[in-house]
Amino acid sequence: MIFRQLYDHESSTYTYLLAERVGGEALLIDPVKSNVDQYIQLVNEMDMKLVMAVDTHIHADHVTGLGDLRKSTGCISAMGETSKAECVSLHFKEGEKLKVDNLYLDILYTPGHTDDSYSFVLADRVFTGDTLLIRGTGRTDFQNGDPADQYDSLFHKLLTLPDQTLVYPAHDYHGMTVSTIREEKQHNPRLQVPDKQAYVELMNSLQLDNPRMMDIAVPANRNCGLKSVA
Ligand code: FE2
Repeated sequence: MIFRQLYDHESSTYTYLLAERVGGEALLIDPVKSNVDQYIQLVNEMDMKLVMAVDTHIHADHVTGLGDLRKSTGCISAMGETSKAECVSLHFKEGEKLKVDNLYLDILYTPGHTDDSYSFVLADRVFTGDTLLIRGTGRTDFQNGDPADQYDSLFHKLLTLPDQTLVYPAHDYHGMTVSTIREEKQHNPRLQVPDKQAYVELMNSLQLDNPRMMDIAVPANRNCGLKSVA
C-alpha cells in the first residue's frame, strides 16, 4: 500500500494520499486548495490516477482542494450525505465503502465537531477528521457542532475499534503525526470523563477563538473551494 501523510503548514492540516500500488488508483483525504499542484505532481510522479478526493467534513480553517482537483484531474469529489456542499459529485453515507483499486475504506458517521463529520477505517488505521485528534478532540461550538453527539461518535464508534488501530487525524498543532486508539483511551485528556454529561460540560467550558479563516473557508468550502457563495 502507498500511504503518504502530507502537511499544510498554514492550517496544520494533514492530507492523506492512499493507493494500493504505484501505477494504480489514488485517493486524497482532506486536500488543501493551496497544495493542489503538489498533490497532482506527486500522483503523476508515481504514475497513479487520482480517482477520488474526499473531505471528512466542511473545514473552517482552510479552503478545500476538492473543486480544483476535480477540475484538473476529473476525479470524483465526495463528502458525506449530511454535508451542505452540493458541489460534490458524490455523497457517501455510513455503511458504504470508498474504493481505490483493492483498498476499501469503511465509512463511519461521526458527528459532533460538525454535523457532517465522517471517519474512514482502512484495515489497521482510521482517519478521524476532527472528531478524534491526538490528545484532543475537535471543538463543538460552531457549524452545528454538538458535544453530546461527539461523545457518542467517540465512545460508541471510534473507541470501539481495536486498541492497536492507528489514528490519523485531520490536524495536529503539536508535531504529533499518529497515535493509536489505546493511547488515546489512556492519555487523551478529553476522554477521561465518567459520562456523557461530563463530556458536554467539559466541551462547553472551552473558550476558543474562531479560526482565522472561518468566514472565508466555510462558505468557500460549501462550494468545494471554487469560489465563495457567501
Ligand atoms: Fe474541522
